[in-house]
Amino acid sequence: MSPTPVGTLDLPYLVISDDRNERLTAGLDAAKSSWIARGDIGYSILRYDDVVAVLRDKRWHSAVPLVIEMAADVTPEFKMRRRESILSAEGDTHVRLRRLVAPAFSPRRADQLRPFMRDVMNGLVDAVAASGRADVAADICEPYPIPIICELLGAPKEDWELFSRWATDVLRVFDNNFKEDMPLIAAAQDELDAYTRRLIADRRSKPRDDLLTDLIASEESGERLTTEELVMLVEAVIVGGTDTTRNQLGLAVDLLIDHPDKWKQLADDPSTAAKFVEETMRVNGAVRGTGRVASCDIEYRGVLFPAGTIVFPLLAAANRDGSVFAEPNTFDPVGRATDQPQLTFGSGIHYCLGAALARAELQEALPLLARRMPNLRRGGEPRYKIATAGIFGPTSLPVEFDPT
Ligand code: HEM
Repeated sequence: MSPTPVGTLDLPYLVISDDRNERLTAGLDAAKSSWIARGDIGYSILRYDDVVAVLRDKRWHSAVPLVIEMAADVTPEFKMRRRESILSAEGDTHVRLRRLVAPAFSPRRADQLRPFMRDVMNGLVDAVAASGRADVAADICEPYPIPIICELLGAPKEDWELFSRWATDVLRVFDNNFKEDMPLIAAAQDELDAYTRRLIADRRSKPRDDLLTDLIASEESGERLTTEELVMLVEAVIVGGTDTTRNQLGLAVDLLIDHPDKWKQLADDPSTAAKFVEETMRVNGAVRGTGRVASCDIEYRGVLFPAGTIVFPLLAAANRDGSVFAEPNTFDPVGRATDQPQLTFGSGIHYCLGAALARAELQEALPLLARRMPNLRRGGEPRYKIATAGIFGPTSLPVEFDPT
């Protein structure tokens, strides 16, 4: 039997809502009757097995380049300056990059940074502990990842401010406000490029025990990373590793505020931190979906997706799939038993390169916060990014706690 073209299927329609919960609820509703739904610019994939199947199928390519291609107000000059990133590379180019860089992003490298992560987090909590009040999003989550990325790369402390500004401006690429942001993004990329080239030159002459030295070493043994690729990777680490981590931490705390017994459990038994991280990411993930484009005609489950079709694997909906996670809407960090991973780090060849680092950052931050912010409660209304943001999370999370 020949496959049915996706365009002719009778499918539920997913409205893109600005409400942060409605989108997920709509996806979960649609998932009761169908594994796929139609939207304005593509199709959403709703269930765990299908999300994993699409992400593991190399014929589906990353939709990251489309973010800029499809955005209004982007000048041809700006499109031209984009270099290929590991986030969007496919095929042999991507395989080669992953093979070369994966060892540098190992759990061992991430574990080495754990004492540093605790120092950074303790410093941030010190500033608010005596007052018993904080905006967790602004005071804790926002500043947390930059020093860690700098330490990982081997950039000195006096440059943290610079990195923070470049990260903010480079990340504007996801804000869809190119008319105003293009000059800022371009300037930040240029400054970061120049800085990274100096850092690479420095490490070439004086190798150290850091990620950049590791990446340069992989360049120098047999197959190599070019300087261009090294510069691209530093930008990918900043783009991929700052806003994700800070928003994921914010969402985890936001969820835990409403579970005071679990907050206390985490403070009393920090050895449960890894389970808390996985379950908060499952229930309240910062990356709720990603995009793929069919690189050729693809047949899947008797459906034909013509080349160029866009699909959105909805990670957040897959994370609530009841056929994989029993009682999927219950938040149960310690009791949950499953051998299936939560999907907020993605799956397949683009699976998050920084997952070990992000896990370590969250595993260190959460129990420390639980211990140093006892009896955590809301100190005002939280505010969030728009629901369609590629990386979602709170922009303001006012809390009160017993001063320590
Ligand atoms: C909790 C925090 C994080 C979350 C939720 C997250 C999520 C993701 C997801 C879902 C993808 C796959 C995207 C896709 O398939 O389209 C991804 C890829 C990636 N992430 Fe993360 N990430 C996090 C932290 C980090 C950190 C700390 C780094 C860097 C140190 C990082 C670097 C990357 C890179 C370079 C890729 C591209 C990998 C590739 O395309 O081969 N991420 N991340």
